[in-house]
Amino acid sequence: MRAMHLDRVMCIDARCYPIPWARDVYESELSLNDERLYLIARIVNNRATTRHGRTPKPQPAHNQTKTPKPQPAHNQTKTPKPQPAHNQTKTPKPRPAHTLTMTPKPRPAHILTMTIAGYGGVAFEEGKAHITTVAVDPDHRGRGIGAQLLLALMLAARRRRTSLTLEVASDNSAAQALYRRFGLAPVGIRRDYYTGTGLSPDAILMRADEIHQPDYANRLIKIAVELDCA
Ligand SMILES: CC(C)(COP(=O)(O)OP(=O)(O)OC[C@H]1O[C@@H](n2cnc3c(N)ncnc32)[C@H](O)[C@@H]1OP(=O)(O)O)[C@@H](O)C(=O)NCCC(=O)NCCS
Repeated sequence: MRAMHLDRVMCIDARCYPIPWARDVYESELSLNDERLYLIARIVNNRATTRHGRTPKPQPAHNQTKTPKPQPAHNQTKTPKPQPAHNQTKTPKPRPAHTLTMTPKPRPAHILTMTIAGYGGVAFEEGKAHITTVAVDPDHRGRGIGAQLLLALMLAARRRRTSLTLEVASDNSAAQALYRRFGLAPVGIRRDYYTGTGLSPDAILMRADEIHQPDYANRLIKIAVELDCA
């Protein structure tokens, strides 16, 4: 993820969470080059890929804030705002007979169309990895994009030989199912962790250890094969 992606990322964020992160939280996170990894998932010609861009220049120390409260999951997406009037399609007036209308040429197959469909991040601190956020645009869910993001974040944690933790809202069954698939197990409850965020207040703490072991590599390979991205 790079600064240039933030407009779209924040748009997805607003569709996924009642209180999205402010831009400066993202900017601060992106400035922590060595301790963070933020990825975007793009749909290229309708096929998902994950990618992280080059890291931006470090920001001054006063901008380097602590890890923001990881974003919780919730199952309700905000109702998108109605489109502004200029986007509402009116029935076009019939054109006079002498006006030529040009039918746009169909795009050649080799032209790529790319859309950011999701994003995720992990913080590395003191030999531990902590997932800070994972979100997929509601329009693109259920197609393995969340799993691809998590796979990439898990591989990064595995390279650093860390354990991995995250918090997830107690009622977020979709995210919990996704995390269980990656071997994360519930290890505790944080009461009122999300109070004031508009989400179910209690968080479940999930954790995976030994992710550098061969057994865990086999789990990731299996998932990658299932996702057809091995
Ligand atoms: C959680 C989230 C990232 C999953 O993204 P996704 O792209 O739909 O996930 P995938 O398509 O990769 O699905 C992965 C697994 O999640 C689970 N899952 C996905 N949608 C689900 C649903 N509606 N109900 C139950 N389980 C679901 C399934 O186990 C699925 O595995 P399967 O494909 O073998 O069935 C997405 O729902 C989301 O952005 N939610 C809002 C933000 C959020 O809650 N983030 C997590 C913060 S802790």
